[in-house]
Amino acid sequence: MSYNNIKISKMTLDDFNDIKAILYSDFDDFWQEKTLEDELKNENSYYLVAKINDEIAGFAGLKIVLDEADIMNIVTKKIYRNLGIGSAILESLIEFAKQNGIKKITLEVNETNQYAIKLYEKFEFKKISSRKSYYNNQNTALIMQLSII
Ligand SMILES: CC(C)(COP(=O)(O)OP(=O)(O)OC[C@H]1O[C@@H](n2cnc3c(N)ncnc32)[C@H](O)[C@@H]1OP(=O)(O)O)[C@@H](O)C(=O)NCCC(=O)NCCS
Repeated sequence: MSYNNIKISKMTLDDFNDIKAILYSDFDDFWQEKTLEDELKNENSYYLVAKINDEIAGFAGLKIVLDEADIMNIVTKKIYRNLGIGSAILESLIEFAKQNGIKKITLEVNETNQYAIKLYEKFEFKKISSRKSYYNNQNTALIMQLSII
């Protein structure tokens, strides 16, 4: 199953307030509310939300430094996973990067996070290095990168 009525838009303060209420229950616990709020106010950050019938179904953001960007996070609401929402958001972030002269997008992902890795590989991110014992001194982080020509 997939949705064809996913709407992607820039995250607003209203969106943030909606997300805040369900951040820990409906998404994952690794995003701190304060971090997300700070990111929204940062002029070098660019955050998107995916909505289905006005309900926030996912969000993600980039931090931009000159002509490079890091993906800060990408997350889909638990009940909507594997329906194409992560792909729709990532596609929009890549399109934004292309339109804004960004040459490389880099990210870190836990090597055990198979769905996230699949998502990134689908958009041709390549593994460029790894950091052992990165997450809570246990799992390895893979560093993946997309070069935009
Ligand atoms: C990673 C995450 C954002 C993917 O979002 P999503 O909306 O489920 O992504 P999509 O539905 O677009 O799926 C993208 C690809 O991932 C793979 N995938 C996702 N869920 C899957 C599942 N349950 N079974 C098998 N493959 C799966 C598929 O290869 C899929 O590609 P396809 O369209 O060719 O099938 C989501 O799992 C999530 O929020 N995880 C928790 C937060 C997280 O770990 N973020 C990444 C931090 S680096």
